Amino acid sequence: MSRQGYDYGKILFQRDGGPVKDKKITRRIFLGIIGKLSILIALLAEAIGAIRAFIPQVLYEPPSKFKIGKPDDFPAGISFLPEHKLYIFREEDNFHAISAICTHLYCVVDWKPDQKEFYCSCHGSIFSKDGINLTGPAPSPLPWFSLSHAPDGSLVVDSNQIVNVDYKFSV
Ligand code: FES
Repeated sequence: MSRQGYDYGKILFQRDGGPVKDKKITRRIFLGIIGKLSILIALLAEAIGAIRAFIPQVLYEPPSKFKIGKPDDFPAGISFLPEHKLYIFREEDNFHAISAICTHLYCVVDWKPDQKEFYCSCHGSIFSKDGINLTGPAPSPLPWFSLSHAPDGSLVVDSNQIVNVDYKFSV
C-alpha cells in the first residue's frame, strides 16, 4: 500500500477504487528505465564501433610537392612560409628553400636576422644561415629542398627531394 492508494503492479488505484490521475514513477519502474537505457547506450556504442571499423583509418599528409607562388612574390632576402614551415631565400634571381622544422623534436625554428642564424626556442638548438646545426640537441642540419617551375611559372618545392647546401634554383 502506498500513501495515495494500493499498488497492484504498475497500475495504482485510489482508496475509492479509481485509478490514480498523476502517474507515479516507482523505484522498480525507475530502475527498469535505467537498465533499458544502459542496454540501449551499450548497443549504440557497439554499433558505432562496428561502423567505424569500415572507415579506413588513413593519415592524410600534405603533398610533398607544392607551389609556393611566383618568383616575383618573393622579395630579396628571406621569406617565411608558415603554412609550409619553410624559409625561402632569394639572392637576385637565385632561390633556395630550407625547412623550418627543427631536426630535434620538430619545432619550428625562427630566423634571427641580427645573428643570421636559425634558433629553435624549444630546446635551444642553433643553425647557421645554411641550416647547419651549430649548438643544441638538434642531431642534423635543416634540409634544403629542391625547387622547380610549374607550367604557370610558379615555384614548386619538393620536400621529398633534399639537395646540397650549395643548391640554387635560377629563374
Ligand atoms: S625541437 Fe628544436 S631543439 Fe628541440
